[in-house]
Amino acid sequence: MKYKIKNICCIGAGYVGGPTMAVIADKCPNINVEVIDINKERIDDWNNKDFEKLPVYEPGLAEIVKRCRGRNLHFSNLLEEKIKNADMVFISVNTPTKTKGVGAGKASDLKWVEVCARQVAQFARGHTIVVEKSTLPVRTAEVIKSILESSQSSTLNFSNNPSFDVLSNPEFLSEGTAINDLTNPDRVLIGGDRKDAIEALCEVYRNWVSEEKILKTNVWSSELAKLTANAFLAQRISSINSISALCEATGADVREVSRAIGSDNRIGSKFLDSGPGFGGSCFKKDILNLVYLSEYFGLPEVGDFWKGVVELNSWHQHRISKLVVKNLFGTVSGKKISILGFAFKANTNDTRESAAINICHDLLEEGAILSIHDPKVEKWQISKDLGSKYLNPINNDYINENNNSNISEWSFCSTIYQAVKGSDAILILTEWDEYSFIDWERVSKMMRHPAWVFDARSITKPEQVIKFGLNLWRIGDGYERPTGDIKI
Ligand code: UDX
Ligand code: ADP
Repeated sequence: MKYKIKNICCIGAGYVGGPTMAVIADKCPNINVEVIDINKERIDDWNNKDFEKLPVYEPGLAEIVKRCRGRNLHFSNLLEEKIKNADMVFISVNTPTKTKGVGAGKASDLKWVEVCARQVAQFARGHTIVVEKSTLPVRTAEVIKSILESSQSSTLNFSNNPSFDVLSNPEFLSEGTAINDLTNPDRVLIGGDRKDAIEALCEVYRNWVSEEKILKTNVWSSELAKLTANAFLAQRISSINSISALCEATGADVREVSRAIGSDNRIGSKFLDSGPGFGGSCFKKDILNLVYLSEYFGLPEVGDFWKGVVELNSWHQHRISKLVVKNLFGTVSGKKISILGFAFKANTNDTRESAAINICHDLLEEGAILSIHDPKVEKWQISKDLGSKYLNPINNDYINENNNSNISEWSFCSTIYQAVKGSDAILILTEWDEYSFIDWERVSKMMRHPAWVFDARSITKPEQVIKFGLNLWRIGDGYERPTGDIKI
């Protein structure tokens, strides 16, 4: 084999770079893995002695970091040194949607990727294989390649005489199950045009992935496959969420509909859970990239088709806040609403594009007083997402004593029972396991009646909620369900 990989450097220590490199280090004890980031605080967190305080929460991650950190897994800010020593550099930095200029609101902002490519071009020595790992728009490899190639002909890094290969190796890990997705992937996709470079990356994966799961394609197919996979998954969620609204209107139950359609082999049962709308850093961004690409290549009908998936998602989130208001007699002004779950899904502390952000914003705009609980998301993160405009500066267990007040604010609660104290309604937005074990009798006694439970994740058992005198709304549940007659 032409290239034997001994030193890997990953630029970007985020939700993708951190777990991916931890698993590579764990599975490849003969490879030294260096994760670098410009964010010093993030690196300090990855090096934290307390493994509970790593910057990314993922089941199973802390154990791997514990095993490998200091052995063949290192986190630092030493960009120049680590790029110099690497045979292979993964680019795993953030690529948010552009907010201004050409493609604003749709295209990905490649500025961080470009900075990375320039850093690699400047510091690399000898032959370096550059692997794009971040979710990127199609043809990004070309951008990276042309930056790297220009360094070969410039005097900037002339003395080191670098040469490069660029591969696309999209990440399919899903947050919350990242370690399992990485250790038992459905497939590993490698896009490239030079056999030696592809072979070198295959060799890394062969340490734990069987040959038939490693798919090799050209660069463009690999890049487009990643966007398409996410678009298809998101499309399923918008499809089922659209049906949930119809279920509520017609008396059907979306869980029954999901089960019925999911048992058709051609459809399959996964990704058919109706919820508060998809979140996460990828789905919306990737679809918007697809929309941008379609329009750019003169295919507006294709763009419109995918745009619909994102529009439905946004409509669905606002639909939930509206029906909370409607059921609370048309106004939530001065009413206390407990929000259970702020992460975009369970088992992660990530809140990017979480449905909770839009829904909480809507309710705050309507004058509600929110008490927010999430087992893994920290208060500072919620502050960042909601802005400080509504933050209750005084305490963390605000009780609304003046129900006529139209002051809108939110507070953070560290337990479910603290959050529900004195509230008019509970809105469950993340499917954290602990929300399926709530003591509804205790909760009902703590709430102001008539009290509502809005379950946007189908995590409650209806009979256990209504029997304690609580009104229940569940996503996509069109059953007429009277409240139980046990008076609290
Ligand atoms: C996604 C892709 O699954 C992954 O392959 C890719 O690499 C990155 O993007 P992620 O965003 O981490 O992963 O989580 P995912 O499990 O896909 O969930 C995304 C959103 O869809 C979450 O808000 C989740 O709650 C929601 N969802 C998922 C549903 O509402 N219903 C479902 O049935 C499944
Ligand atoms: P993802 O979910 O794609 O991993 P994150 O935002 O969690 O996204 O992580 C991306 C990381 O990349 C951040 O920690 C950011 O500081 C880092 N980063 C961005 N640009 C650079 C750069 N030029 N050099 C090093 N790190 C970078």
